[in-house]
Amino acid sequence: MSMTASRVADLVSLADVGVSFRTKRTDVTALRDVSLSVRPGEFVSIVGPSGCGKSTLLKLVSGLLRPSSGTVSLLGSPVEGPRRDIGYVFQRAALLEWRSARKNILLQAEMRRLPAAEARRRTDELIEMTGLTGFEDAYPHELSGGMQQRVALCRALLHKPPVLLMDEPFGALDALTREHMNVELRRIWAETGTTVLLVTHSIAEAVYLADRVVVMTARPGTIEEIIPVELPAERDYVRTVAEPEFAKVTARIRNLLGAASASD
Ligand SMILES: Nc1ncnc2c1ncn2[C@@H]1O[C@H](COP(=O)(O)OP(=O)(O)O)[C@@H](O)[C@H]1O
Ligand SMILES: [Mg+2]
Repeated sequence: MSMTASRVADLVSLADVGVSFRTKRTDVTALRDVSLSVRPGEFVSIVGPSGCGKSTLLKLVSGLLRPSSGTVSLLGSPVEGPRRDIGYVFQRAALLEWRSARKNILLQAEMRRLPAAEARRRTDELIEMTGLTGFEDAYPHELSGGMQQRVALCRALLHKPPVLLMDEPFGALDALTREHMNVELRRIWAETGTTVLLVTHSIAEAVYLADRVVVMTARPGTIEEIIPVELPAERDYVRTVAEPEFAKVTARIRNLLGAASASD
C-alpha cells in the first residue's frame, strides 16, 4: 500500500498532537503526545478524568482549535480551519425554542444552503430513523430530554457527515433514557455508516457502543491505553452487558481510571 493510500485509510488521524493554552495567569498543557487513528465507519469512545482534554480533542478534529504541535487530519488531509463537513452533538441539545423539531433539524440545511427539497427528504428520513415520527411539529419544551437529543442528532446528521463528534451527549439524561439512547445510537450508527468519536463519563456507555475505547490520563491528557471491544456487532443491550467481555473491558477501564475518577 502506498503512503497516500494508507493515510486515506484513516478517516481521522492525530499524530503526536499537543495543545497548550496560554492564559493571563498560567500556561495549561491540555494534551500531550496524542496519536490516534480512526478507521472509516469505526465507533471510538473516549473516557478520562474531568479536564483531561477530551473536549479539546474533539475541537481539534472539527478544526475549531489548532494543535500547538503535531498534526490532525481528516479524510487524509490536514485540518487547517473549522470543518463544515463534520457533525457535532453536545450535552445540551441547544435547540431554538421558537422552532419546531423539524425546523430545528432544517436549521442545518439553512446554514449550509442545501437544496430545500433534498433537505426535507433527508429530514423525513432522519425523523423516522430516530423515532421522532409524530413529534415533527412539537416545540422543544414539549419534548423530553431524550427526544431533544434525538432532534440534535438529526440536525448533526442532516448533511451526512463522514464523522460525528459527540461530547457527553447523554450526560443530562436519566439512566434508563440513556440506555435507550445508547441502543438507538448503536442502530443509527450501523444504518448510516458514519464514523463516531464519542466522549463520555459512563464506562458502560463507552464499552457498549464502541469498537475501541480510548482511556486518557489526567492533565496533561495523554492516551493511557486503547482497548478493543471484542463484542459481536449485534448488541442486544441486556445480553451485551452480561457478556464476560463487557465485564472484562469495563473492569479494565475502571482500573485505569481509578475508583475516584470512574464515578466522576
Ligand atoms: N480555551 C481555553 N483556554 C484555557 N484553558 C482551556 C481552554 N479550553 C480548555 N482549557 C483547559 O484545558 C484542559 C482540558 O479541557 P477540556 O478539553 O475541556 O477537558 P475535558 O473535556 O476532558 O473535561 C482543562 O484544564 C481546561 O481548563
Ligand atoms: Mg469536556
